[in-house]
Amino acid sequence: MSHRNSSAPTVILPTHTAGLFRAAVERAVALLRAGQLVALPTETVYGLAANALDARAVARIFKVKGRPVNNPIIVHVASVAMAKRCVSRWPAAARRLAVAFWPGPLTIVLPRSPEIPGTVTAGGETVGVRWPSHPFIQAVIEACGFPLAAPSANLSTQVSPTSARHVLKSLGGKIPLIVDGGPSPVGIESTVLDLTVRPPRILRPGMIHEESLLAVWPECGVRSAQCGGSAVVAGPQAALRSPGQLRKHYSPRAGLRILPWHDDQELVAQLSMLNVQLTGTHVIAHTHIPSVGGFGRVCVIPHDAAAFARAIYAELHRCDEEGAELIVVEQLPETTAWRAIADRLRRASA
Ligand code: TXA
Ligand code: MG
Repeated sequence: MSHRNSSAPTVILPTHTAGLFRAAVERAVALLRAGQLVALPTETVYGLAANALDARAVARIFKVKGRPVNNPIIVHVASVAMAKRCVSRWPAAARRLAVAFWPGPLTIVLPRSPEIPGTVTAGGETVGVRWPSHPFIQAVIEACGFPLAAPSANLSTQVSPTSARHVLKSLGGKIPLIVDGGPSPVGIESTVLDLTVRPPRILRPGMIHEESLLAVWPECGVRSAQCGGSAVVAGPQAALRSPGQLRKHYSPRAGLRILPWHDDQELVAQLSMLNVQLTGTHVIAHTHIPSVGGFGRVCVIPHDAAAFARAIYAELHRCDEEGAELIVVEQLPETTAWRAIADRLRRASA
């Protein structure tokens, strides 16, 4: 079995014509069948995929990412039938949620089937399953005929990639292939919903939020893991309940602060208290756009949760690339639609 060393070249394949798309699917499928890792576009973030039924291939994911072995990996499918083969129980709730939200950015956690290796589930008895909506990963899964284990395609604790270039930055030389499917249209990771507990728990908020879940399943009584305040980690040896809940995660290299301000003066006053140079400070604003000069950069993302989610990781990557010392993000609205974005930024600032 060949092992890639750190100097192995990484190929990036485009997909913007039907012919290129087909060629990239073929190459990805050949590598995945051979037990290799491939970075693929999904609608949430780019994933680092391996054959979910091949424990050796999945073990490589942990190695390449530097991922703690007690952090389970989501299994990606391309049909409900395939999802059912990954789990040992398919309750009515799963059927209902799949009808409403699949393919899409919702991961549901259910008891695992014996077919899913323990490496995928971090030794736990549950598995997270998701049918992504991105046409490229769907085509790959269909052609493979097996599900794909795929965490976000970044080194552990870093900001997730929403473009092929972001993947290259963190995993270049470590994997044979990155498929470029364009910018990820959702932009932050899927909602992870645990259906093995009652009431079901949101282990990681995402753009499919509590209110969307309640709309299709009013009696579910869903709770956020955060609100419950209950222990997130079952014990030191146990698989983490959902390490997306680790306080520090999704972190850029620069420091990150979330600050409220109504005008330039208020912003500048807070920054002077933090004792930072304006030139090293990059501002990400949605409503009160600074007009004073001197910042490293001022970036504006529309005051719209979906647009903000789509753009935020690319902006964090860019701040790091431009050598920002501090990233200042304008405080977000406290409404449901913004909750998942606020969650990620809180962790990024930890
Ligand atoms: O949108 C996404 O979910 C992306 C794309 C590639 O699909 N994937 C992703 O994977 O964000 P990752 O590994 O970066 O985050 C998966 C999260 C982690 O917080 C993990 O702990 C949780 O899902 N998770 C996976 N399987 C689980 C399980 N069986 N029980 C509880 N949490 C689980
Ligand atoms: Mg991740």
